[in-house]
Amino acid sequence: MTAPLTVPTRPIEGQKPGTSGLRKKTRVFMEPGYLENFVQAIFDAIGGAAGKTFVLGGDGRYFNDRASQTILRMAAANGAARVIVGQGALLSTPAASHLIRLRGTDGGLILSASHNPGGPDEDFGLKFNTPNGGPAPEGVTEAIHAATLGLSAYRTLETPDIDLSALGEVRLGDMTVEVVDPVADYAALMERLFDFGAIRALREGGFSMRFDAMCAITGPYATEILENRLGFPKGTVVHGTPLPDFGGMHPDPNPTWAHELMDLMMGPEAPEFGAASDGDGDRNMIVGRGTYVSPSDSLAVLVANAHLAPGYAAGLKGVARSMPTSAAADRVAQAMGLAAYETPTGWKFFGNLLDAGRATLCGEESFGTGSDHVREKDGLWAVLLWLNILAARGQGVAEILSDHWQRYGRNYYSRHDFEAIETVKADAMMTALRARLADLPGTEHEGRAVASADDFAYTDPVDGSVSTGQGVRIVFEDGARIVLRLSGTGTSGATLRVYLERYVPGPEDLRLDPQEALAPIIRAAHALADIPGYTGRTAPDVIT
Ligand code: G1P
Ligand code: ZN
Repeated sequence: MTAPLTVPTRPIEGQKPGTSGLRKKTRVFMEPGYLENFVQAIFDAIGGAAGKTFVLGGDGRYFNDRASQTILRMAAANGAARVIVGQGALLSTPAASHLIRLRGTDGGLILSASHNPGGPDEDFGLKFNTPNGGPAPEGVTEAIHAATLGLSAYRTLETPDIDLSALGEVRLGDMTVEVVDPVADYAALMERLFDFGAIRALREGGFSMRFDAMCAITGPYATEILENRLGFPKGTVVHGTPLPDFGGMHPDPNPTWAHELMDLMMGPEAPEFGAASDGDGDRNMIVGRGTYVSPSDSLAVLVANAHLAPGYAAGLKGVARSMPTSAAADRVAQAMGLAAYETPTGWKFFGNLLDAGRATLCGEESFGTGSDHVREKDGLWAVLLWLNILAARGQGVAEILSDHWQRYGRNYYSRHDFEAIETVKADAMMTALRARLADLPGTEHEGRAVASADDFAYTDPVDGSVSTGQGVRIVFEDGARIVLRLSGTGTSGATLRVYLERYVPGPEDLRLDPQEALAPIIRAAHALADIPGYTGRTAPDVIT
């Protein structure tokens, strides 16, 4: 075999993994040594790779194939015993999380920039997940960052690419590369959690659906599960072939980017049910015929009905939502006597709660929902749980949603994103707002008095770790709420996210347009933070 090479290198600035690993422009990742440095830092930060087993795969975006070969060579040169890689170097994020857990590995490397577009001029990313299957917690990402700063060399092999298209085992130096079917284990897990028979019966009764894979990783998964195993007709899954540039689509399942699906669902030809997922398969959007389900409402409905699926028949241990997610799920949790947790933005904060058995379902307003079956959010899982609930209740999405609001009231909710703001301007705005928080309680805005204002800090109830500066919360006396934070996942400039919420108990006023229902809250947000003054923006780029 070829002896491992030690290639001298210098630290590269800015290799600081954020909430979802390291995300940069693809060309940055392709610069000589860039990917290599970060991979070496991961191995160094976890105490070396010697004798370890890892999972490897990605969402198929541009550079996924070459990056996988680089990582395999480096894993071998660093002494890893085995890497389990999805055929064609493909794995959805939830499937990777499942494999890490199923095979009891030492973690996994996932190649993806999630919902960001792919291609040579778009985005790429690399994330390390720990042996519990979840995104590396802050302690680990900080150790990785620290390792990047002290790097002087990386280890690799000089070998030709290996064939990742054939299932089975091959040797790379002293390491075994095990190429597995990326879908099989995941599909088996879904069959255990959900009543496929009931969903098949629903379909046989004439129920129709469309799943938009947005030319990203969920295509093969959705085709196998929805079409092959559940028997939905061919063509139920659209944009089902993962492409390196996602066919030019922006694989972010929200009404703006999944507009093709939205148009269908709001039009005369709408099937009963529609859903979409993102680049790496962890996000989901749920739409009924003529009815959009906001992610916060989706979480609440799932919490209220999860017991209808076999995997959750014993009930839930608790529910967790990210702070900016609406309180709709809390109302259900309260009614059901379940513990409810409010965590900072980012799936990694759910990991401890899931591991400790304190929460079973988790969700974020950013189209992320999941459970303790893996340690990532899971797009197809959410779709299947919805299908199981629709089958069990024999009702449509619109009926279920309106029953839900009648019972619990409605948390009108919207997120406004202001993208590619100059970082200095966005930072100045947030700094000024933070400085004024103590003065806000008691002041009136659009006829509402501020009850409290703070910068969200979280103490993990399991390990006691503290995360500060997680977003400004302004809560009004009637429970309406404004949250402002800067995105941690953008790759150009700053993205300001403004989260708007207002609770209406019902029974009237449950069918307003959310933007209308939230209009005074939106105006208050613009004025309170002086968004136009600091950023020059008067309207958001994306509304969800
Ligand atoms: C965004 C979402 C957040 C999610 C993350 C990774 O992060 O808002 O909920 O966990 O992507 O998918 P942000 O850009 O807001 O930091
Ligand atoms: Zn994603």
